[in-house]
Formats: sequence, structure tokens, C-alpha cells
Amino acid sequence: MDVSMSRKIIFTFIILAAISFYITLLFNWCLISNVSKSLPIWQNNPIIHNDDTPLMQYSTSVRVVSLLEGNDTDLNDISPKYRLLREQGLKAERQYPNALIIGVKKGGTRALLEFIRIHPDVRAAGSEVHFFDKNYHRGLQWYRSHMPLTLEGQLTIEKTPSYFITKEAPWRVQMMNPSTKLLVVVRDPVTRAVSDYTQATSKKPDLKRFEDLVFINGTVGSIVDTSWGPIKLGLYYKYLSRWLKFFPFSQLLFISGERLILDPAVELKRVQDFLGLKRVVTEKHFYFNATKGFPCLFKSEGHSAPHCLGKTKGRNHPFIDPRVLQRLRDFYRPFNLRFYQMTGINFGWV
Ligand code: A3P
Repeated sequence: MDVSMSRKIIFTFIILAAISFYITLLFNWCLISNVSKSLPIWQNNPIIHNDDTPLMQYSTSVRVVSLLEGNDTDLNDISPKYRLLREQGLKAERQYPNALIIGVKKGGTRALLEFIRIHPDVRAAGSEVHFFDKNYHRGLQWYRSHMPLTLEGQLTIEKTPSYFITKEAPWRVQMMNPSTKLLVVVRDPVTRAVSDYTQATSKKPDLKRFEDLVFINGTVGSIVDTSWGPIKLGLYYKYLSRWLKFFPFSQLLFISGERLILDPAVELKRVQDFLGLKRVVTEKHFYFNATKGFPCLFKSEGHSAPHCLGKTKGRNHPFIDPRVLQRLRDFYRPFNLRFYQMTGINFGWV
């Protein structure tokens, strides 16, 4: 009796063990199959937490792409909201820009355009159209044909930094639309001049040294040559006063080129508020790429992977004699002060 009882117990135990082994096996199989299904998504995108905080670090492995080749005619990269509207029969049209990034050259204008165009309610012309300076004779229809397709509710933005210094641009823009919003990215005129010069040498490697071009007779400490483009362009107050003859101050927004590098989200918040947009572009869209030394973007419309601006943005500057830089700072100081007074902003250039 005892023997048969213990046999029964052993038999029951074996059955239970077999069932529990089978259940564990089944559970593990399900788990592995789910994880492997999600692997391709992992490999292409940063892992996003519930609060959208990226968990992966992109310190060095980043795709650096040229952002200059925007395709402004296709609507493949539109947000789901606008894709739905389009599918419901809403017609996409080209419109004159509601806002322009008018300058300044080498201030960080490309970065601003690329950052703001992440916003689903913003569509931007891919390349600089140069309508209000070089192509005005082609007429407004020509200009519109260079604008991206937009749906109702979307803003159109164009950026051509030379508009800021073009004499005729303010009244020409006013003629197109007096309520156009104007964005100006400004940067320390000394660094801006060096950046401008660096760009020029990349096209013309035999250009004289910066130190030799800055002064009228080429000697350090003598009169600064204000007819030299890179220096002249830094007299921001002069160009701004032209724009203020045609536009109320409230229609202009000044963005700090330095802050756009240090804290792009803060500047983007100001830009979105100014343009009457919902604050969609936030710190979650940016990460600092240590190799490039600049903020870059996590995936955005049209780019499924993290990316930085192209290699023409964020170049290494040549070494410039510190005495020359100091002389330039002294030169710009009163003009900067005048610009601070006009804008009501102290940009902190010393
Ligand atoms: P440098 O290349 O001299 O560093 P613009 O687009 O108006 O031509 O301005 C170019 C400048 O934008 C660059 O000048 C760089 O300093 C600045 N910039 C600002 N944000 C940047 C970013 N996220 N990536 C690269 N360059 C950026």
C-alpha cells in the first residue's frame, strides 16, 4: 500500500515537473521571438523611453550629411497629421513665405533653418533662393515657384542671409507682404569675420592672411578696413536701421548665434513663440556631438537617423594673431553697443 502510494506521488511529481518545464519553454520562446522582432527598429533608431528620452549615446558614430540638398518639392516627409489631411483631399500649394531668415551670413542661419523645419507646421525652401537680392527681376511668380508645397496651416520659410545687407531687400519684402516675420541670427562680429574668411579661403586657398586683409595698410593696430566684406558685414546696427524703416520692431526676432550652439532648444522656443507655433521642437530633438563640437539632430522629418549639419558648417578656423582679434574687438565695441540698444538685447560680445 505504502509502495503504491509513493509511486503515485512520484508519478504526479514527474507529471507536474513536465508541465512546468513545457510552460517555461513556451514562455521563453515567446519572449525571444518578441525581442528579435524589435531588433531591426533598435538598430536604426535611438531607443526612446516612455518620456522620449534617448537612451543611446551618439558621441562619435554619427552620419554627417549635407543638409543643403533639401528636396522642397516632394511631400513624402510630411507629418502624419498633414499626410492625413492630404489623403482627405486637401490640396498642397506653393505660397509666398510667411517668415524669412534674412541673416546674418555665417551667423548660424543654416542651423536655425534645419532646426525649425523639424516642426510639422513649417515647410522650408531647401536652398537659398536669393530672390530679394539677385533674382528680383524674375518676378514674384518665379519666387513662388521656388517655395515648397504647403497645406493649409503650414508656414513657409525661406533663408537667404544676404538679404540683411541688401539695400533694396527691406522695401522689396515689404511690397511682397508687409506682415512678413523676419528672423536674424547674429554672432560676435569678430568670430563671424573669421568664419567668413575661413569660408573664403576654402574657395580661394591662395587668399592673403586674415591679418593682412583686416587693416588698411596691412599693419597690426592701424586703421581697420571697413570696406573689406567680412569686416563691413559685422556693423549690424547699420543694416538693421534700414530694415526698421520698413518693418516694425515687433516683426523682427534676433537669435543669438552663440546660444544656438550652446542651447539650441532655448532659442528654438523663442522662434516658435515668435512664429505663433506650438512648442514642438524641444531639447529632446538635440544631442551634442563631441566629435563635431556642435549640436546635432536626432531623427527628424526626412532623416531616419541622427545627423549633423554638413562639413561646411562648423569648420576649424585658422589661428589668428590675438593682438589682431583684440584690435577688432575694440573696433566693434561701440557699434555692438549701438546694436544692443536698438534690439534691447545684450548679446555679451566682449
Ligand atoms: P563656422 O563654420 O565658422 O563654425 P551659416 O549657416 O549662417 O553660414 O553659419 C555657419 C555657422 O553656423 C558655423 O560657422 C557654425 O559656427 C554655426 N553653427 C551653429 N549651429 C551649428 C550646428 N549645429 N552645426 C554646425 N554649425 C553650427
